[in-house]
Amino acid sequence: MTRKKKAHLLGFMQNGFNSHSTGMWRHPRDKVNWDYGDYAYWQHIARVLERGLFDALFIADQLAPYSTFQGSSDASVKYAVQFPCNEPSTIVPAVATATSRLGIGVTLSTAFEHPYSMSRRLSSLDYQSGGRIAWNIVSSFSHGEWNAYGVDGRERSDRYERLEEYMEVCYKLWRSWDDDAIIADKRAGIYADPAKIHEVEHEGRFFRCKGRHFVPPSPQRQPVLWQAGSSDRGRDFAAKHAEAVFAVLPTLDRMKEYSGDLEKRAVGRFGRAPNSVKRIFGLQTVVGESRAEAQEKFERIKECIPLEGALAWISGHFGLDFSRYSLDEYVSNIEVPGIQGLFESIVYAKNGAPVTVREAALIYAQGMGMPVAVGTASDIVDQMETYLDEGGADGFMLATTFTPGCYEEFVDWVVPELQRRDRFRKNYSGTTLRHHLQEY
Ligand SMILES: Cc1cc2nc3c(=O)[nH]c(=O)nc-3n(C[C@H](O)[C@H](O)[C@H](O)COP(=O)(O)O)c2cc1C
Repeated sequence: MTRKKKAHLLGFMQNGFNSHSTGMWRHPRDKVNWDYGDYAYWQHIARVLERGLFDALFIADQLAPYSTFQGSSDASVKYAVQFPCNEPSTIVPAVATATSRLGIGVTLSTAFEHPYSMSRRLSSLDYQSGGRIAWNIVSSFSHGEWNAYGVDGRERSDRYERLEEYMEVCYKLWRSWDDDAIIADKRAGIYADPAKIHEVEHEGRFFRCKGRHFVPPSPQRQPVLWQAGSSDRGRDFAAKHAEAVFAVLPTLDRMKEYSGDLEKRAVGRFGRAPNSVKRIFGLQTVVGESRAEAQEKFERIKECIPLEGALAWISGHFGLDFSRYSLDEYVSNIEVPGIQGLFESIVYAKNGAPVTVREAALIYAQGMGMPVAVGTASDIVDQMETYLDEGGADGFMLATTFTPGCYEEFVDWVVPELQRRDRFRKNYSGTTLRHHLQEY
């Protein structure tokens, strides 16, 4: 008998007022007596996820408000479209001290930061959290971000060459300390052996670096590398570097295509062992004691979405001002310069049937184009099992619908059903995030 594939689970949020369900803050059950700017909110969510034995809390980010819609960030501000948003790594200490096993994925952009400070920051976080950090490697895609940093953001064909070199510098720094470099001999007064902490010397096309890595090897030595690139080059980058990927695929067919393609690249092109890149797919869940109750909850969640806010979000993510399009135009006729992988999530949202701009905005605003599982715990687990067994999913990134309640409900209702079917761990078996990701 073949062994049942078990799921990895992550909570998907942003360190801001409103995560990935536009208008979520209007929901009567969102953040009741909680302040997103208060560590207590994050610590509560982290404890809920750890109680549910999740692999990690995953924090998405962008560096500035979206400003593509009507050429301004007004609509993002007005409707709280991923606005306002705190810097993602600032909650890591709070989450790490409230928990002992839960991993923490942070999205940090390579666009405006030197790899020396990036690798130092990530080593510090991994060290201080006992080896629980993942880095979601992004390179910033939106006009708003480029404008905020005063950099010309025209499409760079050398974006991935730069990213390759960025990683090269990070790897050199992370690997520059020998395991036995620290002596800490009080009597001799010797802390470390300089011959075992190698100075990095890098002279490349994009970066120069000469110096020693400032932080000792952390428990994972380098953070778990996470990626969500979706273009041809992006998929290659993920297949080469990533230990886990995050993809949003609205249908089973899209999941199959993506899983097969990524695996072919990782094994065939980059010589990696089969299944060494974990495929974590976005999923939104709405659970009820009955199907009718779940459906009613889902309708209530959808009522929160403001159409203009939804248009502002797709404009930001896809790099195109959707105020210039008719709401009834089909999105399949439109070419976008922004996040191609996420755009496909709405083009294929209706299983190949044409999707209008209005529908696309509303579907996307619901949960970034993720499939939605609405029903009893048993219905939801049925759907997850199909994605695991037929879609190639190794786990799920769970988008919020109202916080912290949606995770409380998932942990109380859905996790036990996953465990009952032997689809999820019954306890943590290690301490690091990499251990839990590779445990099955
Ligand atoms: C599911 C998914 C989630 C993403 N999350 C983020 C994010 O939180 N922050 C960010 O700056 N980019 C994010 N991106 C953008 C990608 O990391 C990448 O920069 C973008 O897709 C452009 O690369 P590409 O041309 O290879 O697709 C995400 C992309 C996808 C597909």
